[in-house]
Amino acid sequence: MISRHPFSVVLVALSVVLLAPACKKSQTADSAASGATVSGNVIKIGEVGSMTGSEATFGISTHNGIMLAVKQLNAAGGIAGKKVEVVSLDDQGKPEEAAVAMNKLINQDKVIAILGEVASSRSLAMAPIAQTHKIPMISPSSTNPKVTEQGDYIFRVCFIDPFQGTVMAKFAWESLKAKKVAILRDVKNDYSVGLADYFAETFKKLGGEIVIDQSYSAGDMDFKSQLTAIRSKNPEAIFVPGYYTEVGLISIQAKGLGLTAPLLGGDGWDSPKLTEIGGDSINGSYFANHYSTEDNSPEVQKFIKEYKEMFGVVPDGLAAMGYDAALVLFDAMKRSPQLTTPQIRDAIAATQKFKAVTGLISMDAKRNPVKSAVVLKIEKKSFKYQTTINPT
Ligand code: PHE
Repeated sequence: MISRHPFSVVLVALSVVLLAPACKKSQTADSAASGATVSGNVIKIGEVGSMTGSEATFGISTHNGIMLAVKQLNAAGGIAGKKVEVVSLDDQGKPEEAAVAMNKLINQDKVIAILGEVASSRSLAMAPIAQTHKIPMISPSSTNPKVTEQGDYIFRVCFIDPFQGTVMAKFAWESLKAKKVAILRDVKNDYSVGLADYFAETFKKLGGEIVIDQSYSAGDMDFKSQLTAIRSKNPEAIFVPGYYTEVGLISIQAKGLGLTAPLLGGDGWDSPKLTEIGGDSINGSYFANHYSTEDNSPEVQKFIKEYKEMFGVVPDGLAAMGYDAALVLFDAMKRSPQLTTPQIRDAIAATQKFKAVTGLISMDAKRNPVKSAVVLKIEKKSFKYQTTINPT
């Protein structure tokens, strides 16, 4: 069941401005598939996220980032005098529910653009629907390359996994001087499988060896047999490109089995829950991410301050990516004279050097931005900035 997230629908301030009716005639044949246009004083956009379940912090943080962006936009007058309203649906972390939510947003709520999902497997379930109806979709943080390959209406504001895999392979080889690495991947997760492959490819090219490649499935609780097999190969690091709940448990069980090699991961680790679950066991591990709260740039520090004022906590990377996805969409909408879906699509595609919290965003021909990544080290429940790696 999809549920409307309780704190999700932004209350739209009463607008006293009288607006011309939305220009339906200017719709091209292209947008006829959904017929979505803006009428009245409100621009409706949709959001799909995991607000509950074992990846709930992904959905909630992203949602909060979006809400901050919407609040600021509407306070500044909205877009062409219209306020933006977000209809947010919870997919409970399930791809099938993400698809159901997508159909509802398009067919019932008549949204003109969609923000979501975080997880690549769920964005992959949503993207073909957005493409069929020609509704622009921006994933804040799905990093698997296949997501934007679903069609020309699908975008993202994050880097992609071939880059992220390279970042961690280079970090293992150059910074940790590791020669032998083990992999423990989630075979039910497109992101995890892709990232494990990209990591292995680069690590081997650099001269390293993948001594063992083990797997688990999201939802598993016991990883001891895989970790025992890994222990027998004496790796110098273990690459675990999964999500925080399983990674937290894996770190505890690895320490329990006497494994001392650091765990390495990707952005899927980014949650305050990771250290809550993993406790001291996750200390000394490293992961790639989209941003660091220790970044002193004015954009980042301003965002952290405003987010803290609204939600009372420091924003994680997901919150920053949700905020950036919304900003990129709003910027594109402002450049779309009649706010038709083909115009919005073209305007997103034309995004160049947009100053976002997580860096400059320029869409390439495949609707992916080229951005740098940071590597963070986990120390005493906090994420310590190590280095920034730029794409070549
Ligand atoms: N990149 C992950 C994916 O594609 C999702 C994710 C992004 C998780 C950022 C946490 C932080 O599935």
